[in-house]
Amino acid sequence: MILAIETSCDDSAVALLDYETGEVIYEKISSQINLHEKFGGVVPELASRGHLASLPMLLHHLKKDEGYALEDLKAVAVTYAPGLIGSLLIGVSYAKTLAWTQGIPLIPVDHLEGHLLAPFLDHDDLEFPFLGLVASGGHTHLILAQAFGEYQLLGKTIDDAAGEAFDKAAKMMGFKYPGGPVIDKIAQECKEPTYELPIPLRGKKTLNFSYSGLKTAVKYLAQEEGLYAEKDKLISYQDYLNLPEDEYKKKIRNLAASFQKTMAETIYLRCREALKITGVERLVLSGGVAANSAIRASLEKLAKNRKIRFYAPEFTHCTDNAAMIGQVAWRKIKAGAFDEKVDLTLNPSPFSPLNKLEVTSLF
Ligand code: KG4
Ligand code: ZN
Repeated sequence: MILAIETSCDDSAVALLDYETGEVIYEKISSQINLHEKFGGVVPELASRGHLASLPMLLHHLKKDEGYALEDLKAVAVTYAPGLIGSLLIGVSYAKTLAWTQGIPLIPVDHLEGHLLAPFLDHDDLEFPFLGLVASGGHTHLILAQAFGEYQLLGKTIDDAAGEAFDKAAKMMGFKYPGGPVIDKIAQECKEPTYELPIPLRGKKTLNFSYSGLKTAVKYLAQEEGLYAEKDKLISYQDYLNLPEDEYKKKIRNLAASFQKTMAETIYLRCREALKITGVERLVLSGGVAANSAIRASLEKLAKNRKIRFYAPEFTHCTDNAAMIGQVAWRKIKAGAFDEKVDLTLNPSPFSPLNKLEVTSLF
């Protein structure tokens, strides 16, 4: 079996995969949302301390309650980049020690490659090549994936990531971290959003993304409409549900839906252009933002119009999880692309090979 460990941000996750087939046998995530929500974002030191407590508990549970023995393991996979260094250090130290003491290979995995290939976990018919958009809290990368390990970066965000834009917009509207899923739920209550927001980089010959202008537009609109919230007054989705039905709720729904519609439109336009230029016949959406209902629906529509296939992971595999890390490790094992001996010098890095790629302009 392959044990996969993921601690790059605020979720501790473990998974077990069959060494031969790559099938996911077990997976579990311990969320830290309670630790961070009131701060409106992830507090790095709290995240590291959280992993220090939850990762050993997850592995203890695996042994004690699920009955797996350390002797069953044939390799340990771990996210080594990119992410919060303190968080990565916990997972890497743990994985390194485990692999070293068991005398089994340690397989370092790029978190972004994990997200990019996550749809393979849920779709048996997905194949290379494909156009993949990884849209998460830290990244927005449009990638042409030719084969396992052969990736061309076609565009990326020049400022905020898509998930970051969702979280920041939500925070300005008064919602706790992570605000992306809250905007998604609230936006679904407003079928006809009416606020006009700018489409970033509209008409520009680029496959890059930009969200800082949109974020500023949301800020001014929220201020004008009396919806702008101070940092110390953030509420949860449940708090929102408990509020009386009034003008404020109507406006906040409209703003959430207008923002979400604009986000979906920017992603639709970039993917449409990239598909036109590359002629690729598979479109893949992954990363936390792939859980967004409007973005999924708009890319599904795009794929249908172009008569191509659209793939996104199941919801649990959109956001951070260890199964996606184990899957990349399994592919590395199959390709022989790993060291039998544990690299005792392995260090976490804020940059992964994928996010170090230069953008290839197709214009
Ligand atoms: O991939 P992920 O779990 O972590 C990173 O690698 O960053 O992504 C987390 C991001 C957060 O910004 C969160 O707000 C966003 O994904 N997200 C969503 C939704 N679910 C999660 N954004 C919009 N709509 C959603 N339904
Ligand atoms: Zn992630």
